[in-house]
Amino acid sequence: MTLRPTLEPPRVGARLAGTGSATPSRVLTNADFEKMMDTSDEWIVQRTGIHTRRIIDKSADENALTLATQALTAALADARMTGSDLDLLILATISMEMHCPPTACQLIAAVGGQNCGAYDLSAACCSFVFAMNTAWGLIRSGMYRNVAVVGADTISTFMDYDSRGRSTAILFGDAAGAVIMRATDDTSKGLIAQTMHSDGNRWVDLYIPEKMSHFPEGVEPNPEALHRVQMNGKGVFKFAVSTFPDVIAQTLDAADLKPDEVDHYICHQSNARILEAARERFGLPKEKLYVNIDRYGNTVSASVPLCFDELRRAGRVHEGQRVMFVAFGGGLTWGTSLWQL
Ligand code: COA
Repeated sequence: MTLRPTLEPPRVGARLAGTGSATPSRVLTNADFEKMMDTSDEWIVQRTGIHTRRIIDKSADENALTLATQALTAALADARMTGSDLDLLILATISMEMHCPPTACQLIAAVGGQNCGAYDLSAACCSFVFAMNTAWGLIRSGMYRNVAVVGADTISTFMDYDSRGRSTAILFGDAAGAVIMRATDDTSKGLIAQTMHSDGNRWVDLYIPEKMSHFPEGVEPNPEALHRVQMNGKGVFKFAVSTFPDVIAQTLDAADLKPDEVDHYICHQSNARILEAARERFGLPKEKLYVNIDRYGNTVSASVPLCFDELRRAGRVHEGQRVMFVAFGGGLTWGTSLWQL
């Protein structure tokens, strides 16, 4: 569904007032993978563009909550706010610490927030972009004024770091990123257009089985594959190469903008080749489509906010610019969030 705000002008705007991010301490290089499984730096770089990724050190008690806490603390400081200023926190993640409580509740407590709505939102690698759209809807309605959207994942906990995981483990890393949204009377600032899509018939292309009954028809149930990412790499690649540019085009259409009228495309970092194909389709200069997959791999819900935070901290994001956030992932899901800063 594509929102056209022109049909019903918002009475409040929203500012992206602060950002933060965090990555774990342990660095895994392609040379490390060469020691763990039958692979090579050349194969990984050619197929994915990834050189290093960061993963949590469980012995140092790193997890999604600790990363999210660091990212949110940094974002609050950047926005010159404290946890107690927040009305709502949405944690975009597939790495909830427990089924209950929501990890978001532990997160808001960790930053000193009280009486703040807090919940987890899960839509695989689209979690953060869908959470941005959800947060905008809640600000636009007048229900909330100070909202934190955090993306945090520790996908490394669903990987085998040996030959069983060679087609997945090399792709992924752990991280967290956060954005603070604040309501403003300036209605020129906020979301311009958005999309959120899914095709549940294609869930089998990317899933994490929890029990033997979760394996789809035609796949031999395998106890060793439980709690491990199962991916049809070729299928997901083909899907992404066509869908990524299509969903960008759809969003530009909805906003009545040309590709070069958007200043930054902050895209889910899944594969450097997928990003390059999207950049070429719209004839964008390299500086408009941020890439950090070479350093972090695919960090699931953290991928988009980690890029945005790096870009902002490099001084490249300014008021008045337009930024499009784009993601796709398991579900299958895909979507966008186009902002006027
Ligand atoms: N090192 C060396 N060889 C590897 C390997 C590795 N790490 N992983 C797989 N291979 C092998 C395969 O076993 C296969 O061997 P075979 O031809 O003898 O059977 C060969 O390399 C080719 O595998 P294939 O899966 O066809 O490679 P590919 O070119 O499709 O690249 C991906 C694999 C995963 C990099 C690519 O499909 C991809 O990026 N897909 C999208 C994944 C994605 O974005 N997922 C997240 C969505 S949010």
